[in-house]
Amino acid sequence: MKTTLQIDIKKTEKSRLPETDFDDLVFGKSISDHMFVADYVNGEWTDLRIEPYAPLHLNPANATLHYGQSIFEGMKAYKNVEGEILLFRPDANQKRLNESAERMCIPEVPEEVFMEGLFQLLDLDRDWVPAKAGASLYIRPFIFATDDYLGVRPSEKYKFMIFTCPVGNYYSKPVSVKVETKYTRAIEGGTGFAKAAGNYAGSLYPALLAQKQGFDQLLWTDGKNHQHIEESGTMNVMFVINNTLITAPVNTGTILKGITRDSVLTLARESGMKVEERFLKVVELEDALKEGRLQEAFGTGTAATIAHIAKINVNGKDYTLPEKTDNAFSNQVLRKLDAIKYGLEEDTHEWIQKV
Ligand code: COI
Repeated sequence: MKTTLQIDIKKTEKSRLPETDFDDLVFGKSISDHMFVADYVNGEWTDLRIEPYAPLHLNPANATLHYGQSIFEGMKAYKNVEGEILLFRPDANQKRLNESAERMCIPEVPEEVFMEGLFQLLDLDRDWVPAKAGASLYIRPFIFATDDYLGVRPSEKYKFMIFTCPVGNYYSKPVSVKVETKYTRAIEGGTGFAKAAGNYAGSLYPALLAQKQGFDQLLWTDGKNHQHIEESGTMNVMFVINNTLITAPVNTGTILKGITRDSVLTLARESGMKVEERFLKVVELEDALKEGRLQEAFGTGTAATIAHIAKINVNGKDYTLPEKTDNAFSNQVLRKLDAIKYGLEEDTHEWIQKV
C-alpha cells in the first residue's frame, strides 16, 4: 500500500515473541508487540504513531469510564503458504467502524488513517501472524472518548487505537445456547447495530445467568415481544430449515451487520442455496426442533468464525441438534471461507488485501 501519511514508529526494545506459545493460543490473552495510536484534537486526527504495546494513563474523570462513549471492531489477518499476510475485508470493518461512530457521536476515522495505521502495524508485527492452520491474527481497532469532564455530552477528544493478538478458536467446541425471553440486548432506535462497548456490558448479566445454567451463550430475541430470534451477541446466528438458510435481517437497527454473516450469505447464494433474510419466530424454531426439521444452527462472527450450535434451550426445554456431517452447509462454507482467507482458493470477491 502506498503511504502518504506520516506515522511515527517507535519500536519495542524487547519483543515478547519468544515467550509466546503459538501452540496454546487463548483468545485475546497474547498481545503483539506494537499498537497504533491517533489522537482526535481540535477537530482532526493527529499525532499518528506506532509504539510498543503498553498501558495507558487515564485521568479518573475520563468520559469513557463514566458514560461509555467507546466503539470497536474485530477483523483477522492470515498467513498463506508463501508466508504473505492476507487481511480479510478490512474495508468492511473500516466502514462499519464509522457507522458505529456516527451513532455514538464519535468522529469518523478517515479511510487512509485506518488503512495506513493498520497496514504499517501489521507490517511491523508480521511475525506475530500465526502460520498454523486454524490460527490467525485478531485485530482490534477501537475508539474512545478522552475528555476529562463529568458533564454528559459528546467528548471533544478521542483516541483511535489498533492492537493485535495471535489467536486460535474463540469457541473450541460446538456451543449450547438458550433462547433469552426476559432480558433485551437491543431495541429499534437503540444502539444494537453499533459495535458499542456498552452493548456488550449490558449483555453480560443475562449471559452469566445462562452460563450458570450450563449454556455457553444466549440467542437474543426482539426487545418488544421476545417473539423472534435476533442474534447471539458475540455472533450472528443462522438456521437451516427445509434446506433454506435463514438469518435475521440487518435493517431494524438491532442486529450487528456481521462481515462473516455477509460473506456466508454471499457464498450460500452463489452455491445455489435458498437464503431468507427474515426473522425466525421462536415458535417456528421450537416447532422445527420438535419435528426434527432444524437441520443446522450456527453462529457467524470474526472471532467465532463459524460456531456450530449443538444444543438449543427454548422455553426451558433442551433440544439437541443432529451431529454436523462433513457435508453440512456450515462445514462446507467454513472450508470455503478458510480456503479464501488462507489464500488456497482464488479470491473472486476482492475480499483479501495483501500486507
Ligand atoms: C468479533 O467477532 O470480532 C467480536 O467482536 C466478537 C466478540 C469477541 C466481542
